[in-house]
Amino acid sequence: MEKKYSITIAGGGSTFTPGICLLLLDHMERFPIRKICFYDNNKERQEIVAKACEIYMHENAPEVEFNYTTDPETAFTDVDFVMCHIRVGLYAMREKDEKIPMKYGVVGQETCGPGGIAYGMRSIGGVIEILDYMEKYSPDAWMLNYSNPAAIVAEATRRLRPNSKILNICDMPIDLEEKMATMVGLSSRKEMSVGYYGLNHFGWWYKIEDKDGNDLMPAIKKHMAENGFADALSKTNQHVEPSWIETFAKAKDVYALDPDTIPNTYLKYYLYPDYVVEHTDPNHTRANEVMEHREKHIFDACREIIAKGTAVGCGFEPDAHAEYIVDLACAIAKNTKEKMLLIVPNEGAIENFDRTAMVEIPCIVGKNGYERIVQGAIPQFQKGLMEQQVSVEKLVVDAWITGSYQKLWQALTLSKIVPSARVAKLILDDLIEANKDFWPELK
Ligand code: NAD
Ligand code: G6P
Ligand code: MN
Repeated sequence: MEKKYSITIAGGGSTFTPGICLLLLDHMERFPIRKICFYDNNKERQEIVAKACEIYMHENAPEVEFNYTTDPETAFTDVDFVMCHIRVGLYAMREKDEKIPMKYGVVGQETCGPGGIAYGMRSIGGVIEILDYMEKYSPDAWMLNYSNPAAIVAEATRRLRPNSKILNICDMPIDLEEKMATMVGLSSRKEMSVGYYGLNHFGWWYKIEDKDGNDLMPAIKKHMAENGFADALSKTNQHVEPSWIETFAKAKDVYALDPDTIPNTYLKYYLYPDYVVEHTDPNHTRANEVMEHREKHIFDACREIIAKGTAVGCGFEPDAHAEYIVDLACAIAKNTKEKMLLIVPNEGAIENFDRTAMVEIPCIVGKNGYERIVQGAIPQFQKGLMEQQVSVEKLVVDAWITGSYQKLWQALTLSKIVPSARVAKLILDDLIEANKDFWPELK
């Protein structure tokens, strides 16, 4: 009989949980599931999402065992895969990450600059804790982690749990590859073969070919020069709000800086910080948008399902953008050897870059984990940017491990979007105050 898998979703109360849960059910033919468990450390929040999903599961997949819990032993015993998407501090803290830097005229963003550093200092402990639970109760399980800020979390797990079975992955390159596939008239990114290097939310494509080896870069470059990623639909139905559309259009200016490569959209925060600050309302940031839309929409829908006692007509949809998570689980479960972009220790894959850096590169994934695909030497421009940014990420992890104020001040000062050590200190002191319930004490 074909093996069926047991999945625990950590961050059961996440806005992404219902979409991922439905997506898993949609892919049972290639990735059969016997059990889904939600785990969260916030009982009340998780209960709303879990009770609604329980009703949905009962109506649509009664053969799959379903439960939810805040007890680690129950959550992590008899598990094959942990899908981890936690947000330590919830949206309330994301709002502070975004608004505190803006007080000083500095970009406030979830994963970039001071906001990303603050979020990293909160996330490390949460992800390590879940990894330890998994290893204690299901030592053979794999964790698929997409909790942000993925770059800092990945560096922390490399340093603190080097032998753990954790794979860190991001969905931004997936959406951008879908957009590029559309630009050249292909129906899926899976019809393309790519060369890519960078850090998470900080990378570039240097080669894109079709299955026959034809170079697709000229057509994609033409589109980038004219429109950036704007006007290229993606079947992932993700990133559709006006602020994202603006980011896709701005990629035109990011592209202009190095017309030999196609940039990740997140580079706009590092290369055009003045523009970003001018176009940000310091009193209403992305966190507010998400709380007013995605979070409200998901929790309203869950409450309605619970009140009605049925999920029929509830508008819940499988999250198409998250298909890569099923691909990744399948690659391990069935040794598919699929090529995927992962965040992994460099070890020479980028020849002229720090071997110990956590880089985002194409890997081949199979039952024993990943194998890196060597990307060779990278140009000076990208190398310079990456060296600065990876140092920020490493200093944050140093600060978290040693409780060092000095290291965190250095990290903030080194961030490309912070103008001076003086401003870095002002922001840091505000962030320490705002994060006192979450960060280790700094001395
Ligand atoms: P959310 O706030 O809606 O949900 C996160 C959940 O995690 C909450 O229910 C919270 O209680 C729970 N949580 C927090 N700390 C925890 C801990 N220590 N143990 C267990 N549970 C904990 O957040 P969201 O918007 O749904 O996002 C979830 C995460 O996924 C974020 O980190 C987000 O940045 C990330 N994300 C990453 C990618 C990617 O490309 N890597 C894509 C989308 C979302
Ligand atoms: C992209 C990134 C993620 C990020 C997500 C949500 O997909 O890759 O890391 O979490 O965007 O951003 P949002 O602003 O919509 O919460
Ligand atoms: Mn990401």
